[in-house]
Amino acid sequence: MVGYSQVLGLFGLVAAAQALQRSSLPISELKKQVRCVASFAVATVSSISNGSIELTHDGEQIRDPYKLRARDVDPALLYPEYNLSTPIDHFHNDSLYEPHSDGKFNLRYWFDAKYYKPGGPVIVLCGGETDGEGRLPFLQKGIVYQLAKATNGLGVILEHRYYGSSIPTKDFSTENLRFLTTDQALADTAYFANNVKFAGLEDVDFSPKTTPWIAYGGSYAGAFVALLRKLYPDDYWGAISSSGVPEAIWDYYKYFEAAAVYGPPACVEYTRKTTDIIDKILIGKKGSKYVGQLKSVFGLPNITHDADFASTINGGIYGLQSYNWDPTQSSDEFFNYCDIVASDKLKYPKTESLRESVNELITVAGYGDEIDTLSNHVLNYVGYYLPQGAACGNEDQDECFSTYDTEFYSQDSIAQSWRLWPYQYCTQWGYLQTGNVPEGELPLISRTIDLEYSSVICRDAFNITKPANTEAINKYGGFELSYPRLAWVDGEWDPWRAAGVHAIGLPERESTTSEPYILIDKAVHHWDENGLFPNQTTAELPPAPVAEAQKEEAIFVKAWLKEFKKEHSHCKKER
Ligand SMILES: *[C@@H]1O[C@H](CO)[C@@H](O)[C@H](O)[C@H]1NC(C)=O
Ligand SMILES: *[C@@H]1O[C@H](CO)[C@@H](O)[C@H](O)[C@H]1NC(C)=O
Ligand SMILES: *[C@@H]1O[C@H](CO)[C@@H](O)[C@H](O)[C@H]1NC(C)=O
Ligand SMILES: *[C@@H]1O[C@H](CO)[C@@H](O)[C@H](O)[C@H]1NC(C)=O
Ligand SMILES: *[C@@H]1O[C@H](CO)[C@@H](O)[C@H](O)[C@H]1NC(C)=O
Ligand SMILES: *[C@@H]1O[C@H](CO)[C@@H](O)[C@H](O)[C@H]1NC(C)=O
Repeated sequence: MVGYSQVLGLFGLVAAAQALQRSSLPISELKKQVRCVASFAVATVSSISNGSIELTHDGEQIRDPYKLRARDVDPALLYPEYNLSTPIDHFHNDSLYEPHSDGKFNLRYWFDAKYYKPGGPVIVLCGGETDGEGRLPFLQKGIVYQLAKATNGLGVILEHRYYGSSIPTKDFSTENLRFLTTDQALADTAYFANNVKFAGLEDVDFSPKTTPWIAYGGSYAGAFVALLRKLYPDDYWGAISSSGVPEAIWDYYKYFEAAAVYGPPACVEYTRKTTDIIDKILIGKKGSKYVGQLKSVFGLPNITHDADFASTINGGIYGLQSYNWDPTQSSDEFFNYCDIVASDKLKYPKTESLRESVNELITVAGYGDEIDTLSNHVLNYVGYYLPQGAACGNEDQDECFSTYDTEFYSQDSIAQSWRLWPYQYCTQWGYLQTGNVPEGELPLISRTIDLEYSSVICRDAFNITKPANTEAINKYGGFELSYPRLAWVDGEWDPWRAAGVHAIGLPERESTTSEPYILIDKAVHHWDENGLFPNQTTAELPPAPVAEAQKEEAIFVKAWLKEFKKEHSHCKKER
């Protein structure tokens, strides 16, 4: 029996430290991101462990010793947290931030100086749109550990303003979220390099004039460090953008391009056809009895909004992002789903009783001539999602699955951490994952999941009625962004690839030591960020393409550091 939380996990599949969650989450999922501020813990998001979806008390990855301990050794016990008092408003010249603030807030960070030797660099992992604590394993054994060890560097995890405990305002009201822009957070990161004093190393001059600072970020943070390198080249000597998304895109229907191109072909074909059948009914037969019949087949007759219904039955294809090479961080749900939908055998005998109704819907949708082949595939699709209705149980199905609830959205205390990333995507980044593929193509999710639907939260939580100002981001280069000592590392199968420099169709760049351009074979979302202890490493893990990328990163960072030394001694001589 699949539990409620487990099934609803389909909405939030993205594993703890992966982030960039889907753009239209039902309120029941957002509620799990409400944190108990008093104990500074709780909040729940599904995360992944040994291949199964597990519910943990860990927010986007908020403090949960159990969860972190499950990642081998509890890094939260190894690394004390520190704060740097940082200006809330770096741009008193910009009316966007009126009324301005002269205040400061505590920007949180952790560091490890175990491998540091005088003259070594500072390696900063930018936390992005999550609680920074969830990134600690990367300091302990992931990319920060690896780079710090390779370069005698000092490793840092730096939280992004508003996330975790780095909160500059007394609440998250729309007005008080005005300081939550990428520009302000970038300015924090530059301020950090110029002002931090590391405990126990107070006598060391870590200022960027004398010490090379290297930034690393994955996903949103990948775009973030690319912008950081371009806007603050004197503070950050180099940057690695992993699965970076430098192009802000309002209608990000291409999120599903990677699944369409690299997913098992039969899975893609039958997902498309089933989705088209669903749309031929939800859109083509809107208002007819067939809409209710369709919802009933899925055991979801009481979901009021058609798009909420469509959104409840598309988690399988969404699962690709959560696939990881590290079994403790991975969900295989995408492939489980694909095996089921691609199968021409009936996978759930119980769905036999639905065949007549399903066949009628297939015919009404105009697929009558393919009924013999489609019937089992559609029933398998139905069977995959059926447990959700049952798991919702006696609760109102809208309570379980709807994205509409103006009362919920009006809450704005700092406990409502679900407001943060949506505020960023409603104002600047976009990435609404819709079914809006061009006319003539069949989408992998329903076309009822359109811009209007995906931006409910923008209107109801923030009173934002216009598309995001993506130009605020894209003016820095977007797809064309490049800069000396800025590396791009992407995954071939990553759904976020379409918002970055490795997007399919963009001209290939030449990979150089200064501007490395690496596409990791068959990899998904920032697969180079994570690592294993030496005693966990096997012939297969990490997989060769990941290990290779990590090795390359250490090599080009060392080359960048040599350049720093050279330029630096040169400057000294000239003086
Ligand atoms: C995951 O691990 C737990 C604890 O070892 C175990 O009880 C559970 O059955 C495992 N789940 C799967 C799907 O292997
Ligand atoms: C850092 O700042 C946060 C928020 O102000 C506070 O809760 C926490 O105790 C501070 N931590 C330290 C080590 O000072
Ligand atoms: C504010 O000043 C910064 C430099 O400190 C500059 O980059 C930015 O363009 C200015 N913004 C406005 C709106 O004038
Ligand atoms: C749907 O709503 C009706 C009327 O309130 C109720 O009788 C029925 O049990 C509900 N069905 C499900 C599956 O929730
Ligand atoms: C929403 O914004 C508009 C202007 O953009 C304003 O007129 C209206 O009062 C706002 N509504 C709320 C509830 O704040
Ligand atoms: C593996 O190495 C880590 C880090 O050195 C250590 O904490 C852990 O106990 C080791 N695990 C085993 C099974 O030896």
